[in-house]
Amino acid sequence: MCGIVGYVGEAHAKEKIIDGLKKLEYRGYDSAGIALPVDGKIAIRKHVGEIKNLEKIILDPEFDSPIGIGHTRWATHGAPSDINSHPHGNEDNSIAIVHNGIIENYQEIKEWLAKDYGVKFKSETDSEVIAHLIGIFYDGDLLEAVNKAVAEMRGAYAVCAIAAAEPDKIVAVRKDAPLVAGIGKGFNFIASDIPALLKYVREVYLIENNETIVITADNITIYDENGKTVKRDVFHVTWDADAAEKEGYEHFMLKEIHEQPKAVYETLVRRINDDGSINLDGISMTKEDIEGYNKIYIVACGTAYHAGLVGKLVIEKMAKVPVEVDVASEFRYRDPFVDENTLFIAISQSGETLDTLAALREAKRKGARVLSVVNVVGSSVSRESDDVFYTWAGPEIAVASTKAYTTQLICMYLIGLYMGRTKGTIETEYYNKVLDQLKELPDKVDGLLKSEDKIAALAKKYHRREQVFFIGRGIDCGVSYEGSLKLKEISYINSFAIAAGELKHGTIALMEEESLVFALATQDFLYEKMVSNVEEIKARGARVIGVAKDGRTEIEKVADEVIYIPDCIDEVAPVVAVIPLQIFAYYVAKERGCNIDKPKNLAKSVTVE
Ligand code: G6P
Repeated sequence: MCGIVGYVGEAHAKEKIIDGLKKLEYRGYDSAGIALPVDGKIAIRKHVGEIKNLEKIILDPEFDSPIGIGHTRWATHGAPSDINSHPHGNEDNSIAIVHNGIIENYQEIKEWLAKDYGVKFKSETDSEVIAHLIGIFYDGDLLEAVNKAVAEMRGAYAVCAIAAAEPDKIVAVRKDAPLVAGIGKGFNFIASDIPALLKYVREVYLIENNETIVITADNITIYDENGKTVKRDVFHVTWDADAAEKEGYEHFMLKEIHEQPKAVYETLVRRINDDGSINLDGISMTKEDIEGYNKIYIVACGTAYHAGLVGKLVIEKMAKVPVEVDVASEFRYRDPFVDENTLFIAISQSGETLDTLAALREAKRKGARVLSVVNVVGSSVSRESDDVFYTWAGPEIAVASTKAYTTQLICMYLIGLYMGRTKGTIETEYYNKVLDQLKELPDKVDGLLKSEDKIAALAKKYHRREQVFFIGRGIDCGVSYEGSLKLKEISYINSFAIAAGELKHGTIALMEEESLVFALATQDFLYEKMVSNVEEIKARGARVIGVAKDGRTEIEKVADEVIYIPDCIDEVAPVVAVIPLQIFAYYVAKERGCNIDKPKNLAKSVTVE
């Protein structure tokens, strides 16, 4: 996600900021920028693309100062562009800010500032409103103006601000987005992440939620939300920069597995309004459009395709329209039945997968309306789509997709709910029930991550098995495919997923004592049938790990082990059921000594056929 670095010292802030930003590059970004107070004004330089593009435009000695703030941006509101990059200034650039996070009520603030103050906005970002708010409240005291601005803002944020009239300080504030202050001698830092500081400092203050901090070259003062100064213990960083990039996790995959509660929350919070309606900001699909679709195609590759398998059942149930799911490499060559009454949904983490892009073009050529579900803002798929539903999972670095998948699922629910409500094909009571269940998912996923050790122990026990099956019925079938893919891609075990009811038609012939079977039994109305399937497998001597909801204990009688997931309605179970499968795959691969983040023969983004 975005990165922040601020420096106050004796000279050449820009060099320290660039060093810090480079240390945050691994997080993924699409543009970078720096703001410095120069000659009574704030000078802002920013550039889309890599940090080296920014370096080229800050070489001149006039652009220099002992204080400054910098940022690497991962686009959320507004495509990657010079204008949308941070820092953002107010109208006369007497104030500049950098921001990580999201300002949920930015539209409201924008309208208010335009109406009452005639503010003209330069960018499409939510962040720009912060600079204008601070500018309006500024009366010679940056700390006070930042506090007043924050009182108007809703959302999650880490913000750093500078004022041309006070060129000796940075004021920063955090709420639900990380911020650390680096303690130097004659200089101090502020940053979103520790790696950005490690070249210069090892002692830091960890800033907590709702704290505001003022940084000068000689002082760091932390205030609580009531404006009282806070005494904070110094935290001494002992890890090296490499470990810090992974925030203490051994691999990016594990870090990304653990980021899922936050990623799911981010996807939901951006789309659900206070009144429970679904906000389709930036999506131009009308009621008439939705009522006019007589067919939906969901097309994708790999993990994204598996999200589509779940999406089909969810959207069919909620919007009462036939949905076909296809892998992009097949769809593009099979002359599918697509016309102007077809909605084509492309799902892609990267937005650059060549087959998905080609399938999208084929659907468009035949007249379909294209809605894409994409993680990377401004990617090719998003640019070529009529509408984009972003997943907001943040950069995913491990090749094996985890948080992109769970957020793609969330998008499927939101699309299904929105279409169902618009068409009147779902009752209000059911709509509200699903919405409530979705809102509980971040906590449920978080709770499940706490049983990581138990799943790691199962991985240790079974990591030598060379043949693993994943079975499920209904929506569990799609999750089985994803569990199987996770395991095979990072541990190179021969794993296979199949609809549980199909077992008898061939695959059961392969069951033997050495086989391991994951039986997903999260669907209440199919539970007994799954228990019977497990019995059939046990009769062939295979080991079975059941995955069931809390309280559904019948399966304990037949399975060798059971992993329980938090109770929830059947429809949303995939979001929690996939978590133990991801963790199992991770620990099996670790036991087998595999290269987890970069498995052999695989690529994160497949831009060739
Ligand atoms: C590659 C990746 C998978 C991913 C698939 C589709 O195979 O290794 O993790 O699911 O591409 O990628 P996309 O970016 O389109 O979701």
